[in-house]
Amino acid sequence: MPRDLLIRHATLPDGRTGIDLLARDGRFAAIGPALPVPEGAEVIDAGGWLFSPPFVDAHFHLDAALSHGLPRVNDSGTLLEGIRLWGELKPLLTEEAVIERALAYCDWAVARGLLAIRSHVDVCDERLLAVRALLEVKRLVAPYLTLQLVAFPQDGLLRSPGAEALLERALAMGVDVVGGIPHHERTAAEGAESVRRLCELAAAHGLRVDMHCDETDDPASRHVETLAYQAQRLKLHDRVTGSHLTSMHSMDNAYAAKLVALVAASGMNAIANPLINITLQGRYDTYPRRRGMTRVPELMDAGVTVAFGHDCVMDPWYALGSADMLEVASMGLHVAQMTGQAAQRRCFDAVTTNPARILGLEGYGLEAGCRADGVLLQARTPQEAIRLRAARLLVVRGGTVMSRSAPALAQLALPGRPSSVDFTRQDVAAAQTPPR
Ligand code: FE2
Repeated sequence: MPRDLLIRHATLPDGRTGIDLLARDGRFAAIGPALPVPEGAEVIDAGGWLFSPPFVDAHFHLDAALSHGLPRVNDSGTLLEGIRLWGELKPLLTEEAVIERALAYCDWAVARGLLAIRSHVDVCDERLLAVRALLEVKRLVAPYLTLQLVAFPQDGLLRSPGAEALLERALAMGVDVVGGIPHHERTAAEGAESVRRLCELAAAHGLRVDMHCDETDDPASRHVETLAYQAQRLKLHDRVTGSHLTSMHSMDNAYAAKLVALVAASGMNAIANPLINITLQGRYDTYPRRRGMTRVPELMDAGVTVAFGHDCVMDPWYALGSADMLEVASMGLHVAQMTGQAAQRRCFDAVTTNPARILGLEGYGLEAGCRADGVLLQARTPQEAIRLRAARLLVVRGGTVMSRSAPALAQLALPGRPSSVDFTRQDVAAAQTPPR
């Protein structure tokens, strides 16, 4: 029988301090102050640091991750050159190489406390090579990372010959979620038609939907409205997610206000991808140059579940990134100007609890009975974790330690000053309001 794990003296994201967490048989058996130590248990002192449920990335492309420079780099830096470049790379891919890169990325993810990823997988390929590769990766990483796959018709459901049949084949092979890309279809009418067909397909199979929707600076693009309409008409509600929604950044405020209300009424979720939106959108602007991220605080205020995704790491669209969801939260916070204490806390939720809800993760959270998953961060509050991109001191999955990192600590040699520097300050942490 596996040993119990007792994590002592942790701070929780809800502000409680001095909390112990007991993991038994993969679940939290008890969470509270001064728990008795079970015989034979492994005991770890959290030292007052923040123990959070794990990070969740609701929007990623694992089939392209870590392929930067293959077969060449994106010179213009635009979304469209990225799509062309991916089209050049696709015929050169091997299943082994996709699996190797994806596994390497999942190693990075675990080390960063990122234990669940929803990844789109391109189905516009007769061989469905990436689908086969990522289904194998999903099986291989299952003991330490939850991978949810979205059948993504990158070249357009109707625009790319055979895409619809390939997407259905991918679902039959075990891909979990129905994807789409209506703004990339030939016409607005075909975009709307693709949304209808894909949502009906999901409803017929009891699946979730997550579409790249209006990833464009075009304020006249109307696919978010169509997706919300179909989510409501087919009673799919929160089983539907719109990813990117960047057109909403550029829309007239009067229409955007109507649209936010429609999205909220439909029950659908939204995902912004701050690192990618800030670099790919506004690319055809001179000055002022638009940020391009969707209206995050407005959607949250209306009651929509909003997550921040990483989208890309070292691939044809984005040459940076390291599986750090705190970097994603920090960029989202800056781009949306969510600098107030409560708003910062919402940005932490956007990389933890909100994406967990969007993915429908079972047993996510810090309550007795939940899965014993979490990350010990070298910070005292969620806000401080974002500020510092806090070190992941400990990553736990199913009550087993999966990764440890050394605390961030510099040794100084300054005249008349202490020899070490600590970027966490209790007086700063104390000034931050308890989350809620
Ligand atoms: Fe994406």
